[in-house]
Amino acid sequence: GKVRAPTHIISTISDERDVEPCYAGVPMSTIVEKGYGVGDVISLLWFKRSLPRYCTQFIEICIMLCADHGPCVSGAHNTIVTARAGKDLVSSLVSGLLTIGPRFGGAIDDAARYLKDAYDRGLSPYEFVEGMKTKGIRVPGIGHRIKRADNRDKRVEMLQKYAHTHFPSVKYMEYAVQVETYTLSKANNLVLNVDGAIASLFLDLLAGSGMFTKQEIDEIVDIGYLNGLFVLARSIGLIGHTFDQKRLKQPLYRHPWEDVLYTK
Ligand code: ACO
Ligand code: LMR
Repeated sequence: GKVRAPTHIISTISDERDVEPCYAGVPMSTIVEKGYGVGDVISLLWFKRSLPRYCTQFIEICIMLCADHGPCVSGAHNTIVTARAGKDLVSSLVSGLLTIGPRFGGAIDDAARYLKDAYDRGLSPYEFVEGMKTKGIRVPGIGHRIKRADNRDKRVEMLQKYAHTHFPSVKYMEYAVQVETYTLSKANNLVLNVDGAIASLFLDLLAGSGMFTKQEIDEIVDIGYLNGLFVLARSIGLIGHTFDQKRLKQPLYRHPWEDVLYTK
């Protein structure tokens, strides 16, 4: 038989050794000829399978809706300050990306973990939210700095509308909405935010598409694939902010003294 030297790397998502590179076994010519979009490429490289169109379109909508949210949010602010310090594109981009985490944009995985666990265990929204409070953990996917019950996040509404029309089941999203109804009874800013909407709807996509086993869904949630959607999406906006600052030839940023409380 063949003697195979042991390798130091195992890779299962792409192969560029033949004339044509393949993503999860699908040659690039097929991707182009079949008119695949970025949602299909994400399906192949992240989930190692072709997903139905309503799923890949949902992924694309998440990417488009999260691409930017203005210059004032944590990520864009960091990117703008870095670009104005004369740094290059990659430095400006990663400076913004590094703010993505439990408070800003990176609550999707934890929201999926906690919502899935609570729903699967049959907890009422009251039991879930009060249980989190007892543990001293903020409910990921709930709350926003500027969005309120009377000024809802349009992105959340659009995602929900798409899923209502195209998904076979939206049970996790409906549960997230019940959680929101309960949190809103406590405070006006405790809305279901875009991280929470993506988390609950992606759980519905994974469970309802029939394309994933229970074990695969648990693995996706455990590893935490879903923050990747925000990271990828927001990179588009952060790159835009970098170009914008360079184009505008903005000087070094220095925060105004008046906006700092100097105290002992
Ligand atoms: N769960 C429970 N209680 C909350 C939550 C939450 N998710 N968010 C805020 N509260 C409570 C706070 O404990 C606080 O009460 P307290 O003063 O008695 O402690 C009150 O609501 C006000 O909190 P603030 O800190 O003033 O709210 P802020 O506007 O700063 O918070 C934030 C916004 C950071 C998004 C917050 O709601 C949060 O941590 N949410 C969970 C993480 C999350 O989902 N982040 C993603 C946001 S969307 C995005 O970034 C794209
Ligand atoms: C975002 O998408 O960046 C936001 O929801 C956060 C914000 O503060 O607007």
